Amino acid sequence: MPDSSFLDATRGSYDVLASSYLDRLDPDLDLPPLSQALHRTFAELVKAQGGGPVADVGCGPGWVTDILHGLGLDVFGIDLSPGMVAEARRTYPGLRFEVGSMLSLDLEDATLGGLLASYSIIHIPRDRLPEVFAEFHRVLAPGGQLMLTFQVGDESLHFDEAWGKSVSLDFYRQQPSDVVGLLREAGFEVTAEIVRHPEPTEKSPHGCVMARKPLPGGPGEAA
Ligand SMILES: C[S@@+](CC[C@H](N)C(=O)[O-])C[C@H]1O[C@@H](n2cnc3c(N)ncnc32)[C@H](O)[C@@H]1O
Repeated sequence: MPDSSFLDATRGSYDVLASSYLDRLDPDLDLPPLSQALHRTFAELVKAQGGGPVADVGCGPGWVTDILHGLGLDVFGIDLSPGMVAEARRTYPGLRFEVGSMLSLDLEDATLGGLLASYSIIHIPRDRLPEVFAEFHRVLAPGGQLMLTFQVGDESLHFDEAWGKSVSLDFYRQQPSDVVGLLREAGFEVTAEIVRHPEPTEKSPHGCVMARKPLPGGPGEAA
């Protein structure tokens, strides 16, 4: 059995941070214009291939879920941390949020029109990413759109303290080319690979990779 103790540590840490997360957020800083444009593009791509439910996986307190809802998507949030899900439900009572893990999503095969993971794969050890991408591929319908965002780099960071609270959180930066390679191995057709240079308040570049699950018999379907 693979070691999944990191999930307990991540869950417990975000439970501790959940009530402070939205207070610490400044959407003008935390969602620069390029990121806003990428969310709009993702929403348009989902609608262009027929819509369908969209999961915001690792949604935290739901602020990006709400943005996607505002862009006209039929979106719901999933997060490992019950504290985050409670915060999201309290803040956005009109939206649906569920507790769950991206390693085993409680969703039927081929049911989603889109899946966003906004800075949530950053907590998955690199050797477990193939499992996560296989799970994303399983739940997306053919033509379904995937958008991943993450900090770019080679480092792994560990924090015992965040915002004055005791936590145990591991962060894994990613190289977009590695993410692209793993997505292709999982059967995705990669459509965009973008690196945004850091804003003055940020320590690292930010990456965004977009991909879609090929249509049966389509040009992108794995041979
Ligand atoms: C850095 S926060 C990002 C929150 C939000 N998506 C955003 O962009 O602000 C990472 C979130 O991913 C969640 N998360 C981490 N590992 C997860 C997993 N295996 N499955 C689902 N959610 C996970 C955490 O609980 C946390 O809420």
